Amino acid sequence: MTRVRTLGFLNGVLDRIGLGAAGPNDPSFWLPRGASTSAEGVDRVFALIYGISLFFFLLIVAILVVFVIRYRRRVGREAGDTPSHNTPLELTWTIIPLALVIVIFWQGFKGFLDLVTPPANAYEILVNGQKWKWTFTYPNGYVDDRLHVPVDTPIRVVLTSEDVIHSFYVPAFRVKKDAVPGRYTKAWFQATTPGEYDLFCAEYCGTSHSDMHTTVVVHPPGEFEKWLDGAANLLATLSPAEAGAKLYSSRGCAQCHSVDGRPGTGPTFKGLFGHDVVLEAGKRAIADENYLRESIVDPGAKVVAGFQPVMPTYQGRLKDREITAIVEYLKTLEK
Ligand code: CUA
Repeated sequence: MTRVRTLGFLNGVLDRIGLGAAGPNDPSFWLPRGASTSAEGVDRVFALIYGISLFFFLLIVAILVVFVIRYRRRVGREAGDTPSHNTPLELTWTIIPLALVIVIFWQGFKGFLDLVTPPANAYEILVNGQKWKWTFTYPNGYVDDRLHVPVDTPIRVVLTSEDVIHSFYVPAFRVKKDAVPGRYTKAWFQATTPGEYDLFCAEYCGTSHSDMHTTVVVHPPGEFEKWLDGAANLLATLSPAEAGAKLYSSRGCAQCHSVDGRPGTGPTFKGLFGHDVVLEAGKRAIADENYLRESIVDPGAKVVAGFQPVMPTYQGRLKDREITAIVEYLKTLEK
């Protein structure tokens, strides 16, 4: 368990005045308590820079106040000749800051190298950002909308984006990396404490940027493999409609299509199956199995009137059996 010793004092003070965080996701003046192996190093550099800044802020303000009072203009005491040069003083204010920035650079550079160099045996998870949802693909092909990881295991995430730049950010792990369309970026972390942690998008990516958050679930030893096995066999263990309901929430449908009648970026799924839908230019279609399938693999083909053709295709991203399960789920929302 990583204790963030360097910020311990400040956290203690903040706890006492009610600004501290009680748990990993509680609001706090500071970042949440670290829960990864990188957290301590990041916090150490932060505390160093913060401490230096605070020290010089107080020193400069104190000297400023003393000088303002002591050397203020008074009657009978005009400013005489002032020194234009003082070699020892100038050397002091050059050498001390130089030494400080070298220390800051060295600490920061070491930390940066640690953050960009995943251990060779890291477990790889593919991360995809799209407006406005994260999806995580595990080595066995299973896709989930929450990031599940085993504790005490180095995890490498390979990030990309469907559309615009997003940013993968887990404050408790002190890890942040942009997800960029058309290329892959990488980050890694090793969680030290089982639990659930916030995962945010930290790059403004449009209307629902602030909704683009999910959870990292850190499993205790041995639990991750069990979870992954169970989750990956969704279609084998659940009825098609139940599996479809899971896919609806885990694969991004829920982001735009409600199931309670509320309009979203796309039409609601409530009462959709088997009914007429009005398309652009007054055309009509019946929302049967084939219409729903076509709308999933070729969303631009029959856009419902009043909505923008913004849905990405799920061709190749959902297996046929998964599409069938989603259609079965939509049938249960008929009323
Ligand atoms: Cu995605 Cu902000």
